[in-house]
Amino acid sequence: MLITEKAQRFIEQEDKYGAHNYHPLPVVLSKGKGVYVWDVDGKKYFDFLSAYSAVNQGHCHPKIVKALTDQAETLCLTSRAFYNDCLGPYEEFVHNYFGYDKMLPMNSGAEAVETGLKLTRKWGYLKKGIPENEAIIVACEGNFHGRTITIVSISTDDDARADYGPYTPGIEVIPYNDVDAVQKIFEEKGDKIAGLLVEPIQGEAGVFVPDEGYLKACYDLCKKHNILFVADEVQTGIARTGKLLCCDHESVRPDIVILGKAISGGVMPVSAVLADDEIMMTIRPGQHGSTFGGFPLACKVATTALEVVKEENLAEKAERLGKIFREEMLKIDSPFVKLVRGKGLLNAIVIEPHNGKEAWDVCLKMAENGLLAKPTHQHIIRFAPPLIITEEELREAMEIIKESIKTLE
Ligand SMILES: Cc1ncc(COP(=O)(O)O)c(C=O)c1O
Repeated sequence: MLITEKAQRFIEQEDKYGAHNYHPLPVVLSKGKGVYVWDVDGKKYFDFLSAYSAVNQGHCHPKIVKALTDQAETLCLTSRAFYNDCLGPYEEFVHNYFGYDKMLPMNSGAEAVETGLKLTRKWGYLKKGIPENEAIIVACEGNFHGRTITIVSISTDDDARADYGPYTPGIEVIPYNDVDAVQKIFEEKGDKIAGLLVEPIQGEAGVFVPDEGYLKACYDLCKKHNILFVADEVQTGIARTGKLLCCDHESVRPDIVILGKAISGGVMPVSAVLADDEIMMTIRPGQHGSTFGGFPLACKVATTALEVVKEENLAEKAERLGKIFREEMLKIDSPFVKLVRGKGLLNAIVIEPHNGKEAWDVCLKMAENGLLAKPTHQHIIRFAPPLIITEEELREAMEIIKESIKTLE
């Protein structure tokens, strides 16, 4: 794919002065609007990554940007040393929106996961009565919950984990999508287990969708053994999979919900943990926090971003358009296409390498043709456009995907 001199300068600059902790496609973006982004040379692309599902409401949504700029001119940051006139209204709004007693605001997804884990342990000691320092949290193979030391201690991905030890103890990892494994560990160690941490769909693992009934079965086992069901909805939440939360597909109400990414419409890092009082009130003043967590700017932006999700029926849209997407992708008759899977507008194509070309080459070809997506785990391409995409735009984008795959054969 052609990389202009102008683009090359930005790429070299990042390469020279930035840590090499990412391997981006050679596209340099400078503008976004709705489902589209533009590069520094003015070329327009469909954004089918949406910043890993953070931009569900579309790039630079006017209502969200207005909330940001209005508040930015009024009051940005106060810290939690004082009250402010945005946090309380935001917390009440989130209570009414998701139906949990309380929220705890943080910034990144990883921080929210850490918060969820801390809450789980607190509850385990203070409410369940697990002996001091013996609490276990159960997680699943193939997970992705972020990048902190404790979170990579949970990871089974060598890239994410290697050379970051010693790892946080008190974590046990079992196979994903395996109810028997949950039952087994709960029966063996249930009195020491505080929580089960689950992604309702494993996004980073390649949009791995568990069998229908898995989440409900896990939830029921949690209830039987007095263990918290902790759902990491950072990627799957906020309408991405066709429901407000992915757990809604199985009518499961997690004990702890972890949210991030699209709760801000992709405008700034905002995350949150939701729980009822019996869990949330185990953390007392001074026991957890963050300078920016719940700052006025974030409160206004997130409230507006959540309003947009409802006003524009994004969950229903994701559900309807997701079906069309999978239907059409399944029709592609190509040696490259091994599998199509997903829910709502969180989908993936598993690519079978062919003629020396693999998922990376397909992504380069799609970029050349005006659509951006990125491989995850070498052979899987995730497709997650902003949920504001219209059916017409989706059909146009699908033609680009089909065409790109076909020309590589
Ligand atoms: C399920 C899940 N949890 C947590 C995270 C971490 O979020 P952040 O990158 O904002 O720390 C991610 C990010 O991709 C994620 O997909």
